[in-house]
Amino acid sequence: MATVKVNLNERSYPIYIEAGKLGQLSTSIPDKNRQICVITNPTVAQYYLHPLLNKLAEHHVTVFEMPDGEQYKSLSVYSEVMDQLINAGFNRDSAIVALGGGVVGDLAGFVAATFQRGVDFYQIPTTLLAQVDSSVGGKTAVNHPQGKNLIGAFYQPQAVLIDTDCLQTLPERHYKSGLAEVIKYGIIYDNDFFNWLEHHTSELKSRDTDSLIYAIKRSCEIKAEIVALDEREKGVRALLNLGHTFGHAIEAATHYGEWTHGEAVAAGTIIASKLAEVTQQLSASDFRRIYDLMSAFGLPTKGPHMEWSQWLEYMQRDKKVKDGKLHFILPTSIGSAAVFKDLDENKIAAVITECC
Ligand SMILES: NC(=O)c1ccc[n+]([C@@H]2O[C@H](COP(=O)([O-])OP(=O)(O)OC[C@H]3O[C@@H](n4cnc5c(N)ncnc54)[C@H](O)[C@@H]3O)[C@@H](O)[C@H]2O)c1
Ligand SMILES: [Zn+2]
Repeated sequence: MATVKVNLNERSYPIYIEAGKLGQLSTSIPDKNRQICVITNPTVAQYYLHPLLNKLAEHHVTVFEMPDGEQYKSLSVYSEVMDQLINAGFNRDSAIVALGGGVVGDLAGFVAATFQRGVDFYQIPTTLLAQVDSSVGGKTAVNHPQGKNLIGAFYQPQAVLIDTDCLQTLPERHYKSGLAEVIKYGIIYDNDFFNWLEHHTSELKSRDTDSLIYAIKRSCEIKAEIVALDEREKGVRALLNLGHTFGHAIEAATHYGEWTHGEAVAAGTIIASKLAEVTQQLSASDFRRIYDLMSAFGLPTKGPHMEWSQWLEYMQRDKKVKDGKLHFILPTSIGSAAVFKDLDENKIAAVITECC
């Protein structure tokens, strides 16, 4: 089993990565007879809930199945979970387990952060995006009609349990979306990892177990290192948002549904990389490698067509705006990135026109 540690002093925790060990959770949750609420959705439950419940037989488990979809990462579903916990007599020694993708994980984490001012929280992420990104780092949230993730908390789990076999049932589109975030780690942080990805596209496309374990482990290590340096995103953690300012604009403009998050991040990363090339931060050959790797995984390399005024409006609504100025994360080579402000708007507009 591969283990990655997230070092955050008293909030440190392990990430366990293994194929076919969904049930290890029972050995990770200390003490018997705990009250546990497993939060999941019907899509995930059909495959993984029963094997998990079998392993949790020593505890008092209740299950909350939320409907499947981003629109249910909401205050009203949050409130339904709270009702269920209170009605079932859950107390401060209880634990919350998230079994699902980022939607389930974000909502369950916010429940864990706030129920009785915080109870133990375990993540069992079942999408690639959740395994390499959302389950690690402690960001939890629900959406508000005015915007995504507007209500939430930083709350670290006790442990993250990753079973790479869960990815075998993940629909192709969602699987590819997770790969966009994996590529992001190579671009911002690790040239060797990027090289490795270039040489293992076919293994990853066929969801080969050993390649998945390595790619997930390396992604989690990078995220863990960055989060340990900057838990609350005051500095370096912002680099994890490569491609996201453009990506969030694409998601918002297409009403969160037409594009998956990973697809939008892929196109956003191409725009950011082109902008870096045009402003002479990134070499043309590095731009080409980024473009080619996204293409090799079948990820979008072009954004949707929108007027510049629309882009501006959506980008300004994104949380990355500070002092009224747009900040952009741009790659400076393969393996490093930096934050740029005061970029010439005409250049940004021209790059967007070229890339969409
Ligand atoms: N907290 C963070 O740091 C962070 C980071 C990135 C994204 N997010 C959030 O994550 C969410 C997106 O997460 P996601 O991409 O995992 O989407 P998701 O949770 O909606 O999952 C995608 C789809 O796959 C299904 N699914 C999940 N696991 C499956 C499996 N093993 N087999 C078959 N189907 C499966 C889900 O039911 C859903 O239909 C967004 O809400 C986003 O804001 C959070
Ligand atoms: Zn993302």
